[in-house]
Amino acid sequence: MNIQVFASEARLDEACADLIEGLLRVKPRAVLGLATGGTPLGVYRRLIDDYRKGLVSFRHATTFNLDEYVGLPEDHPESYHAYMRRNLFDHIDLPPERAHLPNGNAADLEAECRRYDALIEEAGGIDLQLLGIGHNGHIGFNEPGPALVTGTHVVELAEETRRANARFFRSVDEVPRRAITMGVGTILKARTIALIAKGTDKADIVRRALEGPITTDCPASLLQTHPQLIVLLDRDAASKLSPAALGAAAPGGRTV
Ligand code: F6R
Repeated sequence: MNIQVFASEARLDEACADLIEGLLRVKPRAVLGLATGGTPLGVYRRLIDDYRKGLVSFRHATTFNLDEYVGLPEDHPESYHAYMRRNLFDHIDLPPERAHLPNGNAADLEAECRRYDALIEEAGGIDLQLLGIGHNGHIGFNEPGPALVTGTHVVELAEETRRANARFFRSVDEVPRRAITMGVGTILKARTIALIAKGTDKADIVRRALEGPITTDCPASLLQTHPQLIVLLDRDAASKLSPAALGAAAPGGRTV
């Protein structure tokens, strides 16, 4: 695993955007796995800036988002469809027909999950998957529990997750109770995974995910098994990592 610790959010965002842009330069038809939430917003801003400067093009790329709420209209401002349009898709040259998210309003949600996995397979699998991490260790919306599901599936959101996401809604009651998410198998199949975390509130879970036992109680801990995991942290999110993990980690990164 490659852990990189950055002195500022801006540096982290820049490094993560560079990772994506570097991939697109060598593989313009790359398949990107994308996340929503607060953490990747700076990365998306950076990608938009670089696109405007002519430094990157998404013309031949394909994207798959991790998840979407069930039952929230696509044009609801907090749907992940709307989030992605607002924060990235509307500002770059990615062809809309190659920007995929699960359809949380499909009449047959099970069929939608199968369709989504098949689409990812057809696209050749995900080259680079961007991930945030929930305070309870969820990745995508794979919540802690006695077992995890491998493929795309419908989940009941943990109360903790609904409370965390209530900041984007008027109240917690408005946060949908279910979502469609890629499964951990789908995520782990990505050729490279970039996990990003920022802030002291993520420090404990980052430590558990990267240094704790591999367990379904912390879905992100499964990432330890991935051969190409890049972890991008700001100093606060890295603050509880052991000296062994951090070593002489200097801003700019260190490999462990
Ligand atoms: C988002 C997603 C979630 C978030 C996680 C962290 O598509 O799948 O796993 O990455 O909840 O959210 P933030 O970044 O808001 O702390």
